[in-house]
Amino acid sequence: MAEEFDTDKYPHINQGLAGIVAFSTTKSFIDGQKGELIYAGYTIETLAENASFEEVCFLLWNDRLPNQQELDDLTRKLQQSRSLPEPVLNYIRDTSDTAEPMSVLRTAVSMLADSHEVDTDKAKVFRINKAISITAKMPTIIAAFDRIRNGKDIIEPLDSKSTAFNFLYMLNGEEPGEQAEKTMDLCLILHAEHGMNASTFTGRAICSTEADMFSAVTGSIGALKGPLHGGANQAVMNMLLEIEDKGDDPVEYIKERLAGKEKVMGFGHRVYKTMDPRARLLRKESKRLSKETGHEELYNWSEAILETMKSEKDIDPNVDFFSATVYYSMGIKPDLYTCIFAASRVSGWTGHYIEQAENNRLVRPRALYTGEKNLDWVPVEDR
Ligand code: CMC
Repeated sequence: MAEEFDTDKYPHINQGLAGIVAFSTTKSFIDGQKGELIYAGYTIETLAENASFEEVCFLLWNDRLPNQQELDDLTRKLQQSRSLPEPVLNYIRDTSDTAEPMSVLRTAVSMLADSHEVDTDKAKVFRINKAISITAKMPTIIAAFDRIRNGKDIIEPLDSKSTAFNFLYMLNGEEPGEQAEKTMDLCLILHAEHGMNASTFTGRAICSTEADMFSAVTGSIGALKGPLHGGANQAVMNMLLEIEDKGDDPVEYIKERLAGKEKVMGFGHRVYKTMDPRARLLRKESKRLSKETGHEELYNWSEAILETMKSEKDIDPNVDFFSATVYYSMGIKPDLYTCIFAASRVSGWTGHYIEQAENNRLVRPRALYTGEKNLDWVPVEDR
């Protein structure tokens, strides 16, 4: 028998669902006090050092690492699934050049549903194949839109190459070097999964209605877009570029923002009370890359901002802070950063979808009603 809550008797609400445990999961674990992140048993440091994005996808969909044959099989399936259906290509060609890339990604992913079978098969393998198909196509969508809006031809993916390689290749029209591929692969690994964040929660809520995976991923992309979630990385870069444009002192810039009660993007987290371990890993990458590509000043400003946020507010950076300068040093435009986040996080979203679908109960919380009751009807001419 389902429990019933009387909102008169249970008036407590948790703003932003803070501290509420809504699901159990085997996908990831976060220790916010220690700054630890684990994907299905493996620390993020272990994965960053040893894994490929493809292995992380397998891990998040199967809760274990693949053997060589399984990895080869997944890699081949991803490679075979990268090309986009013609209607999606037409949409990307026809949509406005000034459209927001995250909006284009959201619409294109939603359109992918039309070229897939309706979910009748409840077998896990069927769901994993759908996850492979969406994960394979998201980098192609992002790269295709960026090329079209810049008046360039869309580039077909190359066979026998990784997700990271193909994304950079389709984006830039030239094969990336080993180091660039490795850095992109690291970024994809670090963004793949992160507990019950807003976009994953959204996807699980959609899944819980027994809606299809495309609907869930489309909803998750919408949730990720906001600046309090995945949109923060783009906002961080815009902030650094604004400091550069205006010739501002970064420390003064941050102090002014804080004095005006404004938030500084790329800082703070609902769960971490210390530095996000992904920020620690990206910090090193940002330092190396910024130096190599002549953007050392941006990195130095980032460090100055970090120190100021720590001393003024005792707030640490999150994943979005240093990823911004990493992508910028790779020559990627700021409005694509959140799309890259999505192209990685889709592995976690779909892992959660599979998990939710296998042990589902409709997500249906309650709201505390604070409006009037039993008002008398007033005819429109008397209002
Ligand atoms: N800059 C300035 N003050 C901040 C910041 C920040 N980035 N983050 C938190 N605070 C302050 C906030 O003003 C509040 O102060 P007070 O108690 O004096 O009003 C206090 O810290 C608690 O903040 P909150 O917004 O109530 O905390 P939350 O758990 O609801 O929000 C957050 C978490 C991530 C939305 C918030 O830290 C934030 O807005 N950060 C900036 C956006 C950002 O970087 N988002 C990316 C999050 S990590 C990647 C992801 O999951 O997408």
